Amino acid sequence: MTDNGNPRHIAIIMDGNGRWAKKKLMPRIIGHRAGVKTVRKVVEFCVQEKIEVLSLFAFSSENWRRPKKEVNMLMELFMGTLQSQVDKLDKNNIKLHIVGDKSAFSETLQEKIASAEKQTENNTGLNLVIAANYGGRWDITQAFQKIAEKISTGELKAEDVDESVINDHITTAGLPEPDLFIRSGGEERISNFLLWQLAYTEFYFTETLWPDFNQTLLADAINSFKNRQRRFGHTGEQIIESANSNTQ
Ligand code: IPE
Ligand code: IPE
Ligand code: MG
Repeated sequence: MTDNGNPRHIAIIMDGNGRWAKKKLMPRIIGHRAGVKTVRKVVEFCVQEKIEVLSLFAFSSENWRRPKKEVNMLMELFMGTLQSQVDKLDKNNIKLHIVGDKSAFSETLQEKIASAEKQTENNTGLNLVIAANYGGRWDITQAFQKIAEKISTGELKAEDVDESVINDHITTAGLPEPDLFIRSGGEERISNFLLWQLAYTEFYFTETLWPDFNQTLLADAINSFKNRQRRFGHTGEQIIESANSNTQ
């Protein structure tokens, strides 16, 4: 949390594109395209509000189960958006992080991702994390693999593996944990998003379908967050006491 009470890191499951399109009797891809517009508005808002990290779930490791046609269209949309937006992101001092198992993507897409990350790597404004072919379980598994490798070469001792070592090996290493998690589209589940990182995150669910989500609704979610008491295991009284002693 920052001094003005804003979350440092907002993580969003952008859900409801398909239903939005269906309601309008249009193909699902139209919903995904409309969803990209919402992404732009949300990113703008986070830049204005000086949010440090915005994590967006774009494609889950389970979304390959969708019809091939939809998967292909989503890949094209992802690639096209990355290409058309990277200069604008760069100009706005945004640092891009694409997290997920990128090895499943086409060579062209992998190259585009690497070049977009490289172009924005020295930026110091908003960290924009796009989770693509991402799964929370995959993230923890790949961290385990890296740690096991270091143990086998003697770089690390098994008894030295603690939470901070795991933090250093998950894909969001170096970034603060999400303070606020938002899911649009009415479902109330994590769907294998940032499992490790969400341990103490505040959850906010909205029925609004992602293409209809906007800056006002994001401000509502942030206001709800600001009105919560995060206790991290303490009692409510302890939190009030410590807040009072900090302001004295
Ligand atoms: C979220 O919208 C976007 C992706 C998963 C890529 P959905 O496509 O899941 O939309 P609904 O849930 O079917 O409405
Ligand atoms: C989660 O949404 C993944 C993304 C938003 C990218 P889904 O729509 O795929 O989740 P489930 O299948 O309803 O849990
Ligand atoms: Mg969905």
